[in-house]
Amino acid sequence: MQPLPDSLPTDTGKVALGRQLFNDVRLSADNTISCASCHTLSTGGVDGKKVSSGVGGQLGLVNAPTVFNAALNDKQFWDGRAATLQEQAGGPPLNPVEMASRSWSEIIDKLKQDSSLTQQF
Ligand code: HEC
Repeated sequence: MQPLPDSLPTDTGKVALGRQLFNDVRLSADNTISCASCHTLSTGGVDGKKVSSGVGGQLGLVNAPTVFNAALNDKQFWDGRAATLQEQAGGPPLNPVEMASRSWSEIIDKLKQDSSLTQQF
């Protein structure tokens, strides 16, 4: 174990893009759910529900942990099944009871039509 760093190196362009994607409902199958739907930053990074609800009101099995400082977590998810944030973040868009997209190409095809977003990438 290492002590937590006081700060992590960040790139302002990537932070802005990440903030936008975090709030982007196009990551979900029916364009209704964003990461922020369950990890609402104005309420501590959680939705305050017993279990989170995803596309079509489908219910998960556990509640949403906060995303605040998640980059500093030793492991991700309640059961620690993801070792890193990178490994974790790929899950929700394709999780059938969360954002329920069928594939990354489905998501990318939608995002590609947004020229302001492609420019930022
Ligand atoms: C439908 C609700 C829902 C959506 C949408 C959602 N999450 Fe989550 N998130 C959860 C739940 C529930 C967990 C806990 C799952 C578990 O532990 O099995 C979780 C766990 C996490 C964690 C792990 C935190 C920790 O302390 O272990 C991170 C980070 C996270 N989500 C980020 C995201 C990001 C980024 C997105 C968008 C790409 C997203 N989530 C979309 C409900 C959601």
